[in-house]
Amino acid sequence: MEETKKEYPFLMACRRQPARYTPIWMMRQAGRYMREYRALRKKFSFLEMCKNPELAAEVTLLPVQRLRVDAAIIFSDILLPLEPMGIELEFAKHEGPVIHHPIREVNQIDALRIIEPEEDLSFLMKAIRIVCRELEGKIPLIGFSGAPFTLASYIIEGGHSKNYILTKGLMYQNHSAWDGLMSKISEVLIRYLNAQIRSGVQALQLFDSWVGCLGPKDYEEYVLPYSKKVIDGVDKTVPLIHFATSSSTLLERMKQAGGDVIGVDWRVDLGEAWKRLGYDVAIQGNLDPVILLGPPDLIEKEVKRILDGVEGRPGHIFNLGHGILPNTPFDHVTALIEAVHQYSSKSPRKKEEG
Ligand code: CP3
Repeated sequence: MEETKKEYPFLMACRRQPARYTPIWMMRQAGRYMREYRALRKKFSFLEMCKNPELAAEVTLLPVQRLRVDAAIIFSDILLPLEPMGIELEFAKHEGPVIHHPIREVNQIDALRIIEPEEDLSFLMKAIRIVCRELEGKIPLIGFSGAPFTLASYIIEGGHSKNYILTKGLMYQNHSAWDGLMSKISEVLIRYLNAQIRSGVQALQLFDSWVGCLGPKDYEEYVLPYSKKVIDGVDKTVPLIHFATSSSTLLERMKQAGGDVIGVDWRVDLGEAWKRLGYDVAIQGNLDPVILLGPPDLIEKEVKRILDGVEGRPGHIFNLGHGILPNTPFDHVTALIEAVHQYSSKSPRKKEEG
């Protein structure tokens, strides 16, 4: 078991060990671009699918069956731990997530519950166990959570936001309330991520999707300590990917917060980002998901550009810079995976030798 574990290209890349080829997985890889997913969504709501362990496991495995991805990610959502904290959640049609009673007052923060993940989110833990069994060691399973800032932004704004006025308002104007909320979320996330490890995930990703709305100094003061607390509090037996978008000015500080791998989007050059981060951390990214709407020769060109920027260094996990778009043609996804595997297994060094 230990032997096979060592050979997963995905886990080797997380640990910056040379792999046979560059591993690839995609954020939102089990989603609406897949016919099978859309068929299931006709019968069940998104939350029903997340909360039914058998269904969640089935959806997690769809891209594993249809694509040569190098890791699976458990089908769930960053917002699910909010419900047992006492926050009412809905995924409204065409609107995305909606939180009906956003948290903006100190007494609401005090009332938030610290969850017991194994009981409160037993469906997720069960889904993880089913997927691990079904995968039979074929590829590793990634668990995940939102990062404290991104979750706080949903809790405070009540949904997606353009300018984060309420979130930043609390952050700038009420330090003790901000600290209270971020500390509570951090505690919940430590429990939540460790429970996923106990259930069987072999890696974790922390999504700080919206933290790019902050300047570096504000990140340092209001976010870094909490993200660091979460990362430090997670069992070190599995690697952790620390991901954000629009984060080019925050990279060094994200690294300071922690993570074995830093996930970047397409707004930075991957090679330059890695140089800035230093090669003592692995990197994940960073194809613009919109490229996948274009023809296969464009996809191939972009794959080569990204892989050339890596210069054959161990420790790169190929991914999109953000989630795959629902209108992505399926055969373009197959072309992407094929191109990454093919091009990376002929590394420049090998070419010279040949
Ligand atoms: O990556 C995967 O395949 C695993 C599953 C996963 C989902 N959401 C499923 C999902 C993961 C890792 C997430 C993370 C998530 N959820 C994030 C962080 C990543 C990111 O995109 O920045 C965020 C911000 C959310 C919150 C969320 N969930 C939003 C904003 C939306 C609506 C937008 C959209 O894409 O529709 C969701 C819904 C959601 N989460 C869907 C899926 C497959 C679509 C649900 C549907 O079928 O209608």
